[in-house]
Amino acid sequence: MKILNVVGARPNFMKIAPLMDAYKSYPHIEPLLIHTGQHYDNIMSERFFEELGIPQPDVNLQVGSASHAVQTAEIMKAFEPVVQRHKPDVVIVVGDVNSTIACGLVAAKTGVKLAHVEAGLRSFDRTMPEEINRILTDAISDMLFCTEQSGVDNLKNEGISDEKIHLVGNVMIDSLLKHLNKAQKSSILERLNLQGQKYAVLTLHRPSNVDDQHIFQDIITALDTMQKEVPIIFPIHPRTKKNLFSSALGDQAKKMPGLKLLDPLGYLDFLQLLSSAAVVLTDSGGIQEETAILKIPCLTLRDNTERPVTVKYGSNHIVGADTDRILAAYHNVMNEDNLNYQVPPLWDGQAAVRIVNILVKPFP
Ligand code: UD1
Repeated sequence: MKILNVVGARPNFMKIAPLMDAYKSYPHIEPLLIHTGQHYDNIMSERFFEELGIPQPDVNLQVGSASHAVQTAEIMKAFEPVVQRHKPDVVIVVGDVNSTIACGLVAAKTGVKLAHVEAGLRSFDRTMPEEINRILTDAISDMLFCTEQSGVDNLKNEGISDEKIHLVGNVMIDSLLKHLNKAQKSSILERLNLQGQKYAVLTLHRPSNVDDQHIFQDIITALDTMQKEVPIIFPIHPRTKKNLFSSALGDQAKKMPGLKLLDPLGYLDFLQLLSSAAVVLTDSGGIQEETAILKIPCLTLRDNTERPVTVKYGSNHIVGADTDRILAAYHNVMNEDNLNYQVPPLWDGQAAVRIVNILVKPFP
């Protein structure tokens, strides 16, 4: 059974790692790893392979950055011959990035079975490029693996038949649980002088937050107040860095002694940083899930989430990007002392094993 596994951007790597591990129990599976090259530098890509123990990609399509249309098209053009050459039984795509939909389309059009891991999530906000990628990938997938019940419900509402849908848990959490002990050995807290200190962690990269100067300004204004109370550790995404320093906001940020800008961190350092934080502010999808498991309060700087289970069971608060709302939510969670969060169902480190058990059924 030949399986082509697709990765492209940073959040894909922690999702594919546990699958590559789980295949090892099935000698008749031949997994091949295809990297589209959507993220390409060491800090956004290479080092995650090393830290997560992912084998080197069998093929790298090396598409790099471009507009959405060009990037998606280039991935499709480069992936089609790979599918034709390898004639896989299944193509697996994860998450919601441009690589997900591009390779999904190629699989569907070349008649190869397509499996989507992290299917069914919906923010119901079609201005998000990821929402378009999710809806389209799910519509053409043969097997849809969901992390939470809302994903199952959304797919059924879109008319996808029951036998294609599997609630399996969360592969990103498989990676987190596997690497937590190792992460605790990271020296990041010493390196940043944070041991025994209360601190906040911030990540921002959504175009809706960092491409709009007014919205970005609102967030920076909230940070200015917060950084007087706790240090804010801000590993900065390349898109965000470019936008911050090409405007006056960069000068404002430089004048905040409590706002600590860093290059993007590796997986283990970042996990350790999250685990000991007093509060996390983010617009990432994956970090909402990771903080839910770590039971760290998370303020999501968006007006919606495609991961409602993190709010229902976990520590996630949907706050938006308005200065006053951010500050009110921040003060609320800092004053809460009974943080009674629960782990969402099936987020137990076994999602990849469940997926592979289902995948091999037609290939006993
Ligand atoms: C992409 C995903 C987003 C995901 C995010 C995680 C889509 C539509 N978006 O957004 O869902 O949450 O990845 O980071 O697929 N760059 C580098 N080095 C790299 C890669 C990019 O410096 O290795 C810079 C380039 O200047 C590029 C910019 O970062 O223009 C943005 O990268 P891109 O892949 O276009 O989108 P992300 O914002 O990272």
